Amino acid sequence: MASADGNDDKPSVSGTFSEMLNSSKMDEILEGMIGYFQNFGFHRGESDSKSKEKVLDEPTLDGIVKYIQDQKCKNIITMAGAGISTSAGIPDFRSPGSGLYHNLEKYKLPDPQAIFEIDFFLENPQPFFALAKELYPGSFKPTISHYFLRMLHDKGLLLRHYTQNIDTLERVAGIPGEKLVEAHGTFHTSHCLKCKKEYSLEWMKERIFADAVPTCEDCNGVVKPDIVFFGESLPARFSQKVSEDFSKCDLLIILGSSLIVQPFASIIDRVKPTCPRLLINREKTGQRDRVMQLMGMGAGMDFDSSENTRDVAWIGDCDNGCQVMAKKLGWEDELLKLVEEEHAKIDAENPKSKDSDEKGSNL
Ligand code: OAD
Ligand code: ZN
Repeated sequence: MASADGNDDKPSVSGTFSEMLNSSKMDEILEGMIGYFQNFGFHRGESDSKSKEKVLDEPTLDGIVKYIQDQKCKNIITMAGAGISTSAGIPDFRSPGSGLYHNLEKYKLPDPQAIFEIDFFLENPQPFFALAKELYPGSFKPTISHYFLRMLHDKGLLLRHYTQNIDTLERVAGIPGEKLVEAHGTFHTSHCLKCKKEYSLEWMKERIFADAVPTCEDCNGVVKPDIVFFGESLPARFSQKVSEDFSKCDLLIILGSSLIVQPFASIIDRVKPTCPRLLINREKTGQRDRVMQLMGMGAGMDFDSSENTRDVAWIGDCDNGCQVMAKKLGWEDELLKLVEEEHAKIDAENPKSKDSDEKGSNL
């Protein structure tokens, strides 16, 4: 099982405690508790005074756009989750109804996430490979969001893109590997779990389509794609690059993630306390616990408090958000042209990708 505390470098899910605390009744109780402690000389903590320094004229999308136009940021870090790929036909994990974890009944798992848990896989790899076949990528067409990230790179503004996705669409969109941190690994290569022999995507694809659990040609061990399962460590590149990059970051943009899988989710707090953070997502995610907020402490996004000077939520579809932002920046025509040209190239190389009914996959 994945660890529950999220303190190591293995993916784990956080949020249950904060969900409990985020009920409206809890506000009253907490205000009461804080008042009680104040009677004994405890005072609501002031946020780091530095964090109140205003970098944006206003904490809105317009404020972020002006900040970019004034050439005040040169080192943008972007972070993504499955929400940037859903418009390519790839389901995310947790959206009610369409999310992968809501559609796994037929695999009779102890719980939906077990399909990506290493201990379960070692006991019974068959459900994972059956799902891999069902969802095997049919087309690889990056979305407007992917090409918006590519434009940030082309304009020399992208310090690094951190992704939880294993669909490789960032690479397909033309962002060079050196600019990427694929935090949850990639489907591109596979390794034997026993002797570590490497296998190609083609080799893996053949076995998946033959309904076989892929086994090593040398030692007969099970061969697993190099994606990070719950219970496995993230690639070393993740913590190396976080340490190098985040102190230099002057704008963080987070797209399409529930921000509940650790350690990925908590790196949003590794930027400087003045660094503006923009979330583009269908729902507000990554917000700090109310308890902490009421005490003026804690980590996470602070979109709605009167003290907020830097966190911005643009709520809606990632592709719309990126297009609106591109329009405000005067980049819209360039973005749409890039999408059209790149999609035409992909169609020419792979006529199958024209078929919009064909399913993509986050696998
Ligand atoms: P989730 O499914 O947890 O969250 C996707 C988020 O994107 C949700 O907040 C959706 O509301 C939002 N969303 C979906 N489609 C969108 C769209 N078109 N535009 C805007 N927002 C949209 O996916 P992740 O956060 O990527 O890890 O999940 C993180 C990790 O959990 C995955 O990498 C995977 C999974 O278990 C492992 O398996 C280790
Ligand atoms: Zn082997």
